[in-house]
Parts: sequence; structure tokens; C-alpha cells
Amino acid sequence: MDSARAKPVDQLTEAEAVEALTFLADEIAAHDIRYYQQDEPSISDADYDALKQRNAEIEARFPHLVRDNSPSLRVGAARSEQFAPVEHGVPMLSLDNAFSDEDAVEFDARVRRFLKLDEAVAYTAEPKIDGLSCSIRYENGVLVRAATRGDGRVGEDVTANVRTVGEIPKRLAGKGWPEVIEIRGEVYLGHEEFAALNAAAEAAGQKTYANPRNAAAGSLRQIDPKVTAQRPLRFFAYAWGLVSEPFATSQWEALQLLKSWGFPTTPESQCVTGVEGLLAAYRDMEAARPKLGYDIDGVVYKVDRLDWQQRLGFVSRAPRWGVARKFPAQQARTVLEAIDIQVGRTGAMTPVARLTPVTVGGVVVTNATLHNADEIARLDVRIGDTVILQRAGDVIPQILGVVPEERPKDAVSYEFPHVCPCPLHTEVVRETTASGAETVVRRCSGEFACPFQKLAHLRHFVSRRAFDIEGLGEKQLTLFNERGWLNSPADIFRLHEKREELLALERFGETSVKNLLEGIEARRTISLDRFIYGLGIRHIGETTAVVMARGYHTADAFLEAMDRVAARDPEAVQELDDMDQIGGAVIDAAAAFFAEDHNRAMVQDLKAQLAVQDAEAPKTDTAVAGKTVVFTGALEKMTRDEAKAQAERLGAKVSGSVSKKTDLVVAGPGAGSKLKTAAELGIQVLTEDEWLELVAG
Ligand code: IVH
Repeated sequence: MDSARAKPVDQLTEAEAVEALTFLADEIAAHDIRYYQQDEPSISDADYDALKQRNAEIEARFPHLVRDNSPSLRVGAARSEQFAPVEHGVPMLSLDNAFSDEDAVEFDARVRRFLKLDEAVAYTAEPKIDGLSCSIRYENGVLVRAATRGDGRVGEDVTANVRTVGEIPKRLAGKGWPEVIEIRGEVYLGHEEFAALNAAAEAAGQKTYANPRNAAAGSLRQIDPKVTAQRPLRFFAYAWGLVSEPFATSQWEALQLLKSWGFPTTPESQCVTGVEGLLAAYRDMEAARPKLGYDIDGVVYKVDRLDWQQRLGFVSRAPRWGVARKFPAQQARTVLEAIDIQVGRTGAMTPVARLTPVTVGGVVVTNATLHNADEIARLDVRIGDTVILQRAGDVIPQILGVVPEERPKDAVSYEFPHVCPCPLHTEVVRETTASGAETVVRRCSGEFACPFQKLAHLRHFVSRRAFDIEGLGEKQLTLFNERGWLNSPADIFRLHEKREELLALERFGETSVKNLLEGIEARRTISLDRFIYGLGIRHIGETTAVVMARGYHTADAFLEAMDRVAARDPEAVQELDDMDQIGGAVIDAAAAFFAEDHNRAMVQDLKAQLAVQDAEAPKTDTAVAGKTVVFTGALEKMTRDEAKAQAERLGAKVSGSVSKKTDLVVAGPGAGSKLKTAAELGIQVLTEDEWLELVAG
């Protein structure tokens, strides 16, 4: 299975390609949700790009295997349900990426080939602002609506929030604007504003943002515009969508007009000629980057003449007339001062490099991950070494290697500890895989008795996607734990008993204690999936928790089943195995967790504090209850996600492929092989309208 994921594309068999594309579609979709909806990515942009790139390469080799839900056919992620949907007058598409001078040369060659031109082409070269794109509609010069990109076709209505951004005109200045125009650009936060925002969040015990882009996205997508108004969001305009009439003949002219109407435009943008111009502009932008005070992650090249842009048009989701030339990840040199061990929630011990602080791409870096003991051995990194550090615009910087010439004589090799650095000093065990092989991960075996693991557990428990308790940040958890008030998740719900003690703490006033306790009370009622996810069992992530919640329906049924799984009751194990996307790793992890008395006691103690809501029971009284449905081709009245959610709400199971188990195929225009298979297997096929009629009942 892993071979299909790692193998060079030209060596994949067709079956492996199917598996790899399925994996990539799910993986990329999950990252899209984290990035676009939760503003909390878990991988670097470079790693994300690599996943997309692999998906594209496999699809290029096996074009007949392109999935209906292929990431290559999608821009961004479905919008969240917190904001009203807004259909863009013209879709907000994305740009293809270029990573090298050769890619830029090829872009220019492609443009000239397509237009059959011999002469050098004029392009604009604009900084690629690393924020979140936004489309703002003006009618008769007045701001009427603003939307995020969403899935590219339909975005989220953020009008009230955008109105609070000072740099965005509520009314257009100057003249020459079309009666209706959707102005497009990037909402972003500067480095200083980002640092101040995070410092304030940290002081208030709230969660901090990983980078300015997430902070901008999180700030713009606040339910309460008053909160957005307090965030110093900024804006650059660089494009437009729907227009009631043409207003310019070139991108450069358009940028000047946008400026004259009151929009900030990037001062570093240039109009250049030919491939030399493209390359020189990239170097200029690289040089300007550290002084800008906000994040840019590359340069956008656009064919300047708009009539040529029109002729070049689009290929699926990206224009032929433009490309995003990305910067490589940023690097710097600094000294490795020490290596500490961080113990995670599951006991995994990760060596963390403590560094002499250094600025990389506008952000001061003091720590970097060293992943595991093997990585330290591979790099042969010693304490005192000068190291090369890389930050790829995301969360955890990495050490790429050492500078051997600068190794001091007294540099010290690092020996991985044999006992956990926690006060228990438990013996370190090497994790083994299902087949019994030792992995590179070393674990503390102390579980909840290890204070590090306990704190990591508590951090997970209060995190945004688990119990989401505001006001309980790292500092508060540590402090309350030290005072002996917080030893398990259930203790959080007993904190109100410590009200007086809390008030006596420095920096805890009436209001903050009140807010904290109210925040906790608000989570006493919790959905079953968050309850399960919050337990922090290995391999039970958010999606698995949702599947288990749906499968067991109530907390009692879940806990009873887990006890039986722990006892390896074959029926209970089978029931779990039958659930969608659940396999051996989840079963083993659940069994191991619930086999421990202290875990069971912890969960019971917690449950006694809570009102765990039942998961929505699968419907049994609808026309499609219990049926397996496959959607294929284009849907016109709803998105694929909506269709899936609707079918599941009505008790149906949605599958991605047609088999003998399929009961219904809903086919829209462009349906291909699945329709054929359905016909061969004699499965009932419905149009989208027939499906809607059926479910309307
Ligand atoms: S033009 C058809 N210009 O990069 C898309 N985009 O991958 C036209 N971006 O979604 C977009 N700076 O969020 C354009 N100067 C710039 C940009 C820019 C940042 C972002 C934008 C877009 C993404 C494209």
C-alpha cells in the first residue's frame, strides 16, 4: 500500500495508480479543509504542492483514471456553513505554479506558441501576496457585497467584515469605473500586526496563529464583525471578476485604474518585456522580499494585453495567461545551542533543536524540529554546530544540515535519552509496526502518569477541533496542573470549585475568570464526535471520530462497544471494522486504550461531568435509507459535497465507485465509465432532477 504512495510515477501499475489517486484525493481534501475552513494547516505549502504535483503526474500518465473528485478539478475547499453562500459573477480560479527559471522560460514559450508570436511579450510581474483572496462587488461605485473564494464558484459572504477593513473603499474614488465590478485582491496582515495579535492572544490564554496568512483568514472569517474590526487587516487589489463593461486594455493600465479608484496596489509590481524581463523581475522581488513587512510567496506573471489574455483563456482551473513563480523555502544559518526532548500526547519523543534566534523570512525562529534519533544521526548534527535552517512559510522550521567548516572543537554529539525526561524517568520504548518491525519513533511508556503526556493530552482535549475551550492555553494548563487543580480532562469541569483560588492568581481578574468558567460551562454539552476525538486516542482523528459517533450513536453504546473491543470480542471488533474507513490501526489503538484501567476510569470520570449529545441517528424512513448511492458527472443544482451530505442525512451511504453493492447511480452531464459500469450491472440510474424528486419524497 505504501509503495503505491512512494513509488516513482512511471513505475506505478494501474491498480497502484488507482489506490494512490484515491489516497491523494482524500489527503488533499483533508488538507484543504484544514487550510481553507479551519485556518489551521498541518503541513507546509511545499509538502502540499508536492501532493498536488504527484496527483497531477499520475493523472497525466493515467488520464482515464481521473476521479470525479480529483483535486486537480477543484480550487480551494467547500465553504463552511457559518456564512451565507455568494455565487461569484465570474469564478475565482487559481494559478498554476512555476518553480524555476526553466519553468518561466517555458511559460513564455507556451504563451508565444499559443498566440503564434515571434516578438517579445509584455508581462506584468506582481508580488504574490500570501493572504486570502477576496472578491468585492461594487454597484454604481458602492460596495455591496464581499466574499471569500470558497470553492471558486461560491464563496462565503463576509461583507460586514470586509466593511471594517480601512484600506478597502466603501465607495470608489475617481472615475471610469464600470457600473458593476467585482474587485479581487488579497486580504493580509503585516508582520508587526501579526506579532502583536499573537502576543495579545498568548497573554489572554487564547490560541495563537501559525502565520500571518492564517491570522488574516481567521480574522476575516469571524462571526462577529466587531472582532474583525479590531484586527489590523490590509488589502491589495490585483484583479477583477465580473464587470458590466470593459474598462482597460492591459493589466498594467487596470492596476493604475484600481489605484485611482482608491485601492492599494503593490508598489513592487512591474511591467516587463520578454523572458529576460520575467527573470529580472523575479530577482528584484526576491531582493525586496525581506524589507516588505508582509509575506509574499512568489511572483505572479501575467500577459499584459487583455485581448491576449482573452485569447489564451483557461485550461480547467487555471489561466494560460498567468503563472505563479514560487519562491523556494527560506533559509538561514544559526547555531544549535541544545537539544530538548518534547513528549507528545501519545508519548512520542521528538527532539527539538534550541537555536540562537535568527530571522528567517521576517519571522524570528528559536526552535526547529529534528524529528527523531535517526534524523540526528543522518545529519550528524552536534551541539555547538552552525546549522542551515529552512522555513517554508508554515509552522515548524526544519534543519537541513550542518556547516562542517564551522564546527567548533568542543561540539558535542547528542545521545538520545534512554529514559523519558519526565520525573517518572520511564524507560523509552521503540514503537513497532503491525508486522513487528521497530520504527524510528521512541516513546515514553508512562502514558497519563507522565506529566508531559498528560499536558499534551490536555492541550489536545481543549484544542479547537476537540472541546474548543477558550482561555485554556498552554500557560494556563501548565499553571493549573502545577497547582494540582488539573490532572485529567474531567478536572477542567471541576475548575469552578477553584474560583477563589483562580481569582487570587496574578493576572486573573473577575472578567477573565468569569470568561474562562463560562467557556468551560459552554462545553459541558458536547457532540459525541468531539467527545471521542477529544479522548486523544492514537489514530482516532476527527474523521474517524465522526464515523464512530455515527456508527454508535450514543456515548453509552460507544463506551460499551469499546470495552468489548478491548476484550477482543469478535462481534464488537467486526462491527467496528465494518465502519467506513476504519481498519486495523484504529481497532488496535482503541483496544489498547480501553484495555487500560486508568484510561477507562478517566473516560468515565469525564463522561459523568458532561451531557454528551447523541449523534444524529441514520434515518430509516426515507426513500433512500440504507441504500448505497454513487454520484457521477457534473451536478448542476448542488455541489458534490452538498449531495453527499444530503444523501447521508437521509440514511444513504455514498460511495465513490460503482460495484454490485451499489443501489443507485445519480448521473449528471459528462458521466463516463461509472455510468457504463452501472448499465453493465443493471443498476438503477437517475438524473439529478429525478434524485431530487426521490429525496423530496
Ligand atoms: S491573479 C486566475 N495576482 O494567488 C487567478 N493572484 O494561485 C488570478 N495571489 O487565488 C489571480 N497575489 O489568492 C493574482 N498579484 C496577484 C496575486 C494573486 C496573490 C493569490 C490569489 C490567487 C492565488 C493564485
